[in-house]
Amino acid sequence: MDFYTGTVRRLMQRGLISTEMSVLVVCGGTLDRDAFQALGYREVTISNLDSRMRGDEFAPFKWSYQDAENLGLPDASFDWVVAHSGLHHCHSPHRGLLEMYRVARRGVLVFEPRDSLLARVGVRFNFGQDYEVAAVVYNSMEYGGVRNTCVPNYVYRWSEREIEKALRSYAPTAAPRIHYFYALRLPHERLEAMRNRAVARTLKLFLPVIRALTTVFPRQCNNFAFAAEKDHSAANLHPWLKLRDGETVIDADWVGRHYRNVPSGKKSGPADAA
Ligand SMILES: C[S@@+](CC[C@H](N)C(=O)[O-])C[C@H]1O[C@@H](n2cnc3c(N)ncnc32)[C@H](O)[C@@H]1O
Repeated sequence: MDFYTGTVRRLMQRGLISTEMSVLVVCGGTLDRDAFQALGYREVTISNLDSRMRGDEFAPFKWSYQDAENLGLPDASFDWVVAHSGLHHCHSPHRGLLEMYRVARRGVLVFEPRDSLLARVGVRFNFGQDYEVAAVVYNSMEYGGVRNTCVPNYVYRWSEREIEKALRSYAPTAAPRIHYFYALRLPHERLEAMRNRAVARTLKLFLPVIRALTTVFPRQCNNFAFAAEKDHSAANLHPWLKLRDGETVIDADWVGRHYRNVPSGKKSGPADAA
């Protein structure tokens, strides 16, 4: 089973996602269609800003022209929002992630390169790329780069801490629940296409060591998936917050238990000293 469908299956086994739910794929392609079709999903919309796409290539699923960094869709309009190998093609991968999170009702699932020490060593020895030149080369030198232009995108590699910080900043009402899945995904095609044959040969030589290392230390993998659940129900709010008429507000009772001399009514507190 490939990493994509395997990860969705594991989320299904955990009861987080199911075939009845609606899914929006951003930066989508036929690989996304095939994965969700194989898993038996029905309510899937594939989106992208690639102007070459007609939409019928994603049948039986729907198609929508969407910029992942500025989705023209209402908040919480899909159960899950998914991106596979797409966010690092955005000018701001963080903005793409937060747009996905805004539009999701239950959560986001993202597959991206991971910023591990081993991945950085791999880039140093040309196994991996800092800028995705090969993607443009094999897209008629016209597409495949940043925002699908001919300018090769920077390969933004994420860490768990960054994801957590970005989501906590965007939604400071509850700590995100995030599930991580790790995979070693090697760019064999690119290495085979390179004129310098030594790179592919060297990787082949070191492959057993790399596999052993990433089995013992999965966080050293060069790729991962993360599923961030979006649960802003009363039960999941930070203890200093509560729901009042459907709106999240600070809980004066909690404040009274933790701070002295709390002014009543409109407060002019001390300057924010984070
Ligand atoms: C490496 S491809 C991944 C396609 C597919 N998800 C897959 O895994 O095969 C990256 C895709 O991101 C799309 N893309 C880049 N920037 C985008 C943006 N801001 N909004 C939507 N799609 C974008 C490109 O058009 C391209 O199809």
